[in-house]
Amino acid sequence: ATSSTAMSSIKVVTIVGAGIMGSGIAQVAAQHGKKVILVDVNKDVLQKATKNIENSLHRVAKKLHKDDPAKAEQTVKSTLDNLTFSSDLHDSVKKTDLVIEAIVERLNAKQTLFSTIDSVAPKHTIFATNTSSLPVTDIGTVINRRDRFGGLHFFNPVPIMKLLEVVRTDETSDETYKQLMAWGRSIGKTCITCKDTPGFVVNRLLVPQLGEAIRMLERGVASARDIDIAMKLGAGHPMGPFELADYVGLDTTKYILDGWHQIYPNVEIFDPIETLNKLVAQGKLGVKSGEGFYNYK
Ligand code: CAA
Ligand code: NAD
Repeated sequence: ATSSTAMSSIKVVTIVGAGIMGSGIAQVAAQHGKKVILVDVNKDVLQKATKNIENSLHRVAKKLHKDDPAKAEQTVKSTLDNLTFSSDLHDSVKKTDLVIEAIVERLNAKQTLFSTIDSVAPKHTIFATNTSSLPVTDIGTVINRRDRFGGLHFFNPVPIMKLLEVVRTDETSDETYKQLMAWGRSIGKTCITCKDTPGFVVNRLLVPQLGEAIRMLERGVASARDIDIAMKLGAGHPMGPFELADYVGLDTTKYILDGWHQIYPNVEIFDPIETLNKLVAQGKLGVKSGEGFYNYK
């Protein structure tokens, strides 16, 4: 990790997927003066993303300029001026230096997306995936520019969490790796370097803990609320495991574990979890759908 201010030659960035993560990444990049195009297949999602970004920006700007509401308003405005929302994928990657993919955590969906944009984006454009758990190498098998491809793994909520895991595959070039690190620093993140292993550093340690908490609930050891209180007050975590799983998204949490179970069928901590599968099947995806382990309506 080095200083949070750094130069980067990447000026225009396209973020694909305007959900929890895509909107957060778009916001932070725009706050740091990058021209950002945020793309989603779903127009309702784009509208929701606009609102979420505005709300979050007001919180950030108010904190940055405590005693100067005019300056705070100017920060919000200049950030929003850097942002464009679009549902036209082809057009959005035609003049961009970096594409960050933040769509659903499914290998085939990500591969389809990258294979499409590989034929449309300029030659120099770098591709990155924000995958939580899938091997970056597997996602990249469908593209030709594998030397210009790596992982940029952000954390939720992106405007607050300082870490960025930069993932290089065996084929990521030194130049691409350097550019990804420099770009991460230029948007104020502390970057760590990680090999392309499932879950990288944080999720490989964090997600099994979420799974173990759900299994603990299934065994009747304690209620979800009490397990959350225990981990907050007994281990100093900012959120308990059920609050955090709801915050990450129960679908995303399930897809992460499913993907690892496929790769490592004999590792018990990656086994499917009945309660998690049931909630997702019922459309209870956590905060984003209004209900998960807790009710947010
Ligand atoms: N945008 C802007 N500001 C935000 C924000 C957002 N989305 N969310 C929170 N904030 C700000 C609040 O305005 C508040 O600011 P002040 O200090 O000025 O009041 C500050 O952050 C703290 O927020 P709250 O008081 O609302 O609540 P909190 O103290 O519980 O903090 C939290 C919220 C930062 C999210 C904290 O609960 C936390 O750190 N939780 C754990 C998050 C975590 O572990 N994330 C990683 C998940 S794993 C992942 O992301 C990887 C993956 O691949 C799945
Ligand atoms: P989300 O469900 O909030 O958003 C995903 C968005 O992608 C949806 O809006 C959907 O409409 C869109 N989408 C799906 N297919 C698309 C396509 N082909 N083209 C354009 N848009 C498409 O999910 P999220 O939580 O933002 O997660 C996105 C990615 O980031 C996943 O890979 C996830 O594992 C990863 N991630 C999530 C978290 C987290 O805490 N939620 C943290 C780090 C990384």
